[in-house]
Amino acid sequence: MEYALPPDAAAPLGQARRVVVFTGAGMSAESGVPTFRDDLTGLWARFDAMQLATPEAFHTDPDLVWGWYEWRRARVRRAKPNPGHLATAAIEALVPDTVVITQNVDDLHERAGSRSPVHLHGSLFAPRCIAEDAHPAALPETPHGETAGPDEGGRVPPPRCRHCGALVRPGVVWFGEALPEAALTAAVEAAVSCDVLLTVGTSGVVYPAAEIPRIAARSGATVMQVNPEPTPLDEVCAINLRGTAAHVLPALVAAARDAIGTT
Ligand code: OAD
Repeated sequence: MEYALPPDAAAPLGQARRVVVFTGAGMSAESGVPTFRDDLTGLWARFDAMQLATPEAFHTDPDLVWGWYEWRRARVRRAKPNPGHLATAAIEALVPDTVVITQNVDDLHERAGSRSPVHLHGSLFAPRCIAEDAHPAALPETPHGETAGPDEGGRVPPPRCRHCGALVRPGVVWFGEALPEAALTAAVEAAVSCDVLLTVGTSGVVYPAAEIPRIAARSGATVMQVNPEPTPLDEVCAINLRGTAAHVLPALVAAARDAIGTT
């Protein structure tokens, strides 16, 4: 059943010249990629994502952490973009000056046709060595994560850097680490200059990323939210659409197209 948008919910998007779509794990939930607040399943049910996604965890047990990322990468490879990702790419087609900023480390926005999403928290597909001048590294050819085990939760030794021999680590931002500077700068610039920021599927509790919708609101943009649950971002949102990304975003795009008069 199509989502029943409140009257005029699509008007800001229909009138916008510059749009930011800011996404979190909820955007990929309907593609089968679990959110950070979901419990881990299967092999990894005994672990806590918050404890695996840290520099300390990698230092203490690199095989465990690399194995977890191999498993996640394998799951993402099997996942397909959902209608929410496709609607996001449709917003880019509708309003060419649109910037997609994602906290997600999957590549589902790219696969849905988004041009160059800003990955605030890095990517599962861009590993690098742990050395200070961090050479990029190639991914191992065979993903082992799913089949590894039944030993200690699918341990897989990380590869070594071809240039310097250091361990290769996932190219994601771990708890306690700084965000990639270029991505953060691009995100702040987009937030400051947009007319509409649409925040989708994020709990809005992890900083500095959660600052992005707040910056847009302070800079005068209309901030809209798509989330089935209330979040701390509700207070800065002019419009809160309670529903899922795959359900709400296509309805929003269709209504914005009607408002603009395109088909
Ligand atoms: P969270 O797991 O914190 O929150 C997911 C949000 O998505 C929640 O608010 C859910 O209500 C909402 N949600 C669930 N299903 C949805 C759906 N189908 N459609 C729309 N919304 C849905 O994920 P993030 O906010 O992305 O950081 O988490 C932010 C960061 O915290 C992550 O990037 C990660 C994590 O720790 C790092 O790894 C550095």
